[in-house]
Amino acid sequence: MSTPLNIGMIGYGFMGRAHSNAYNRVSNFFNTEHKPVLKAVCARDEEKAQAFANTWGYESVETDWRKLIERKDIDAVDICTPNNLHKEIAIAAAQAGKMILCEKPLAMNAAEGEEMCQAVEKAKVANMVWYNYRRVPAVTFAKQLIDQGRLGRIFHYRANFLQDWTISADLPQGGQALWRLDAAAAGSGVTGDLLAHCIDTAIWLNGSIDNVSGMTETFIKERKHTLTGKMQKVDIDDACAFLCRFENGSLGLFESTRYARGHKALYTFEINGEKASIKWDLHDLHRLQWFDHSDEGVLRGWTSIHVTDSDHPYMDKWWVPGLAIGYEHSFVHQVADFLESLSTGKPAGPTFRDALETQKICDAVLASAKTGQWTPVE
Ligand SMILES: NC(=O)c1ccc[n+]([C@@H]2O[C@H](COP(=O)([O-])OP(=O)(O)OC[C@H]3O[C@@H](n4cnc5c(N)ncnc54)[C@H](O)[C@@H]3O)[C@@H](O)[C@H]2O)c1
Repeated sequence: MSTPLNIGMIGYGFMGRAHSNAYNRVSNFFNTEHKPVLKAVCARDEEKAQAFANTWGYESVETDWRKLIERKDIDAVDICTPNNLHKEIAIAAAQAGKMILCEKPLAMNAAEGEEMCQAVEKAKVANMVWYNYRRVPAVTFAKQLIDQGRLGRIFHYRANFLQDWTISADLPQGGQALWRLDAAAAGSGVTGDLLAHCIDTAIWLNGSIDNVSGMTETFIKERKHTLTGKMQKVDIDDACAFLCRFENGSLGLFESTRYARGHKALYTFEINGEKASIKWDLHDLHRLQWFDHSDEGVLRGWTSIHVTDSDHPYMDKWWVPGLAIGYEHSFVHQVADFLESLSTGKPAGPTFRDALETQKICDAVLASAKTGQWTPVE
């Protein structure tokens, strides 16, 4: 017997497609009791929303997200809009008793995020934030290795997220597709957009961060705004780097930019422990690089583990050992874990409360960049 989970999705851009693909695929590969049903998609342009609904199999269309939230036949609201709408939609959805799957970053800042946490906790509704990189099998495998104590005491955590798509001074800010350059829609620049992913993975793998020292730069100070047609000050951070101390005593080094010519989405991390080290690279996402100091000296070296065997995380659900999966599967895994959590009652992380920790670290990094001081994470 399966139980339908009626999804109402708001926003149908990049993430709208990634999530719709995940809802459509998950029940073909994961045997969960709850099965997503694509009930409605919401976007402001009815014709475009209908075309999207036809392509992905949604049963109906709404043009006002409030109407979607009011509908009795929607169980879970999926928020795939720019960041400035997350809070309002999430709080309204919680008050209507809906489960919520919200895109990252949770909110524009930690104060907003706290209000969102209180709303879902008061309403006692299932909630999750789409920090999908936790569910890349090689990253989940890294978590298993760390939790088994195979790295021993951890000394260093290093992460990068590098892109190069905003180098042109002619690129406008704001509006469809370019809202990420507009602080009013995005909250921050690379800190909330890219470093938030690195931070979520880091605190999941290596525990809490106590304090940070950050620096940011906005290389192009003014850009034409798509909505006003006027040159306006750019208020997002184009690049951000920070040092941090983790609660477990290890040191962290993080860097993100959209000005690293040649890099499109180079997300990498490396962790150095007393007994072993691991490295991961999104461009080669099914591999985990592993160095084990207990190996015999003459044979000791970095091993490239192809994380595609049936005893690797999630991989028994896919093809045969040796065959790779990709980026989109991380979203399928996240949906599968959310559906499973509805049966077990054990929340699928990151919950809103977990994601608030990332938000607080982003806030501390941005505050530190302003003052030039080491800043504790609230
Ligand atoms: N998990 C990830 O790896 C990942 C990747 C990309 C984006 N994101 C996050 O997903 C969210 C959306 O990003 P995106 O890249 O999909 O953006 P996008 O610009 O591709 O899509 C945003 C969508 O929101 C819609 N929208 C805007 N205002 C609306 C309103 N008032 N009512 C209904 N729909 C509205 C737009 O029409 C568009 O369909 C952001 O919070 C972003 O940070 C996460």
